[in-house]
Amino acid sequence: VKKFKIAVIAGDGIGPEVIGEGVKVLNKVAECSGDFCFDFTYFPWGCEYYLKHGKMMDDDGIEQLKAFDAIYLGAVGYPGVPDHVSLWDLLLKIRKEFDQYVNIRPIKLLQGAPCPLKDVRKEEIDMLFIRENSEGEYAGAGDWLFKGKPEEVVLQTGVFSRKGTERIIRYAFETARKMGKSLTSISKGNALNYSMVFWDQIFDEISQEYPDVETRSYLVDAASMFMVKQPERFQVVVSSNLFGDILTDLGAAIAGGIGLAAGANINPERTYPSMFEPIHGSAPDIAGQGIANPLAAIWSASQMLEFLGYEALADTVIQAIEKILQEKEVLTPDMNGTSSTSEVGDRIVEILSSMLHDEQLERP
Ligand code: NAD
Ligand code: IPM
Ligand code: MN
Repeated sequence: VKKFKIAVIAGDGIGPEVIGEGVKVLNKVAECSGDFCFDFTYFPWGCEYYLKHGKMMDDDGIEQLKAFDAIYLGAVGYPGVPDHVSLWDLLLKIRKEFDQYVNIRPIKLLQGAPCPLKDVRKEEIDMLFIRENSEGEYAGAGDWLFKGKPEEVVLQTGVFSRKGTERIIRYAFETARKMGKSLTSISKGNALNYSMVFWDQIFDEISQEYPDVETRSYLVDAASMFMVKQPERFQVVVSSNLFGDILTDLGAAIAGGIGLAAGANINPERTYPSMFEPIHGSAPDIAGQGIANPLAAIWSASQMLEFLGYEALADTVIQAIEKILQEKEVLTPDMNGTSSTSEVGDRIVEILSSMLHDEQLERP
């Protein structure tokens, strides 16, 4: 029996509430498979930890995490600790230190998921966002000059390296080729006359290596309009760090809500652990009430299963999510239901038990 070591950073607010359900699901899937198991190690890092210890994680935290096969993270950030401190010292630090330069975010409308758009068929919202996750607008570079003076100026510098831009665009082309889908690049070369001109140029260069992949290119403002008006235009999508952040919340909204949207932070070379997390935050407005939707965290657990080599089981988890959405009986308030976080997790586990009952065991 193969044992996977998973680091759990449940984090702040609803983080621990939703991650608890994802862990239930992972344990159930492993049990049904009989082929592997999980060994979860919990790290108490986050804003409460900061208020007690003056830091978001242990000084050798990154070192500690290196020993794991994957990281499962809830959410980071809570009122009481400045957001730029909590995020840069934990979530963004891990993404950077572990060179998780690919952020994969499926925007896929499942049957039964609530969609705010009129007359949309579920096949029309089926995108795979590939967000650059290591540099760009999130380089953390800048300056704060003449603080407090009338001539005060702040600079926030985007950093787009050739290596960083090429590798994410190439990853996106490879993915689109494998899936037999078109690839859309999101940019803004009309106004961002350095970074996005460079991005467009590299996208063009690399597209020459993939004549079989149909390409499209949109300015980010038009892209956000088309995502609402004609979402079927988008299949595989590649974008810079900030554009991808914003567009995937928009994508979440059209594909059933933020409570359903998952993301994987991947280090493709597998030199370091990859990290799986819902794309939502700590939701201070509903934290502690037991009503957070755990389906995003469960979907990201499915991404982890896929990453670990259990593609069919990952798919079964998505099918279980689709089933619970179609039943409409056990859902949290954000999905117009009346159930609690743990009731949704328990129902998913039940559905999985019956789906996996006499299915052939998967041995990758
Ligand atoms: P948020 O995603 O936490 O919440 C936005 C809205 O969506 C809220 O109304 C919230 O109740 C709702 N929501 C989010 N997740 C939900 C779920 N699973 N079920 C039901 N409703 C859900 O975004 P925010 O309010 O802008 O940020 C709150 C904090 O989280 C901030 O500190 C922010 O920096 C942080 N944040 C962290 C991450 C992360 O750790 N990956 C992501 C986004 C925001
Ligand atoms: C996300 C979040 C983070 C990001 C924040 C919390 C730094 O919004 O994962 O989408 O911007 O990447
Ligand atoms: Mn975000």
